[in-house]
Amino acid sequence: SETKPLAGQKALVSAGPTYEAIDPVRFIGNHSSGKMGYAIAAKLKELGATVTLISGPTALDAPKGVNRISVTSAAEMFENCQKHFSDSQICVMAAAVADYTVEEVAPFKIKKKDSSLTIPLKKTPDILATLGAVKTVQILVGFALETDHEEANATEKLKKKNLDFIVLNSLNDAGAGFQNNTNKITIIDKTLEKTVFPLKSKDEVATDICEKIVSIFADK
Ligand code: C5P
Repeated sequence: SETKPLAGQKALVSAGPTYEAIDPVRFIGNHSSGKMGYAIAAKLKELGATVTLISGPTALDAPKGVNRISVTSAAEMFENCQKHFSDSQICVMAAAVADYTVEEVAPFKIKKKDSSLTIPLKKTPDILATLGAVKTVQILVGFALETDHEEANATEKLKKKNLDFIVLNSLNDAGAGFQNNTNKITIIDKTLEKTVFPLKSKDEVATDICEKIVSIFADK
């Protein structure tokens, strides 16, 4: 049989939201379904890679043959991504990681009072930027979900996080982004070459993203 283009390569994919605990029963989360990251993990596997998927809480089944590691918080996602990065040739960070976490998790359920409630938050580490700062041979891919100045913001993240390319999805496009089964993306690579794709299913979008990875890989 024909050799698959990513045979023998290891890929690391992050997907889904993170949950930051406030107390034993509450958390700060977001609407990420994990569908985009899972579709990419499945596609990379299909292309022959050995895939590790670091997943926040989702309702999805692990793609067949993919090694899924389930995590909850940004801190856990960070730890697991760091652990697997040095060993990977391809790294796609598609998770919607919380930007802030609670300074101190309350040990008991916070009681309702008549007054307002303020919860002090601290920044979480930027996983993708941290990996970008130490990357060697890895093809590193990030996402940007923007509501304004989309391309300028995405290009800035591409550079700041030292990515090979960034996948921009705009919340202004109908059918794109969170929860949907479709997505409309623009890929901007490190040479600043820009490719605009039409609205497609997340599986087809995953194919476009993975084709870009394969083409960079072939040029290495
Ligand atoms: O800067 P922003 O959060 O918009 O960047 C989005 C990209 O960075 C996504 O690829 C996301 O997975 C990644 N990210 C990360 N760790 C964070 C925040 C974002 O890996 N703490």
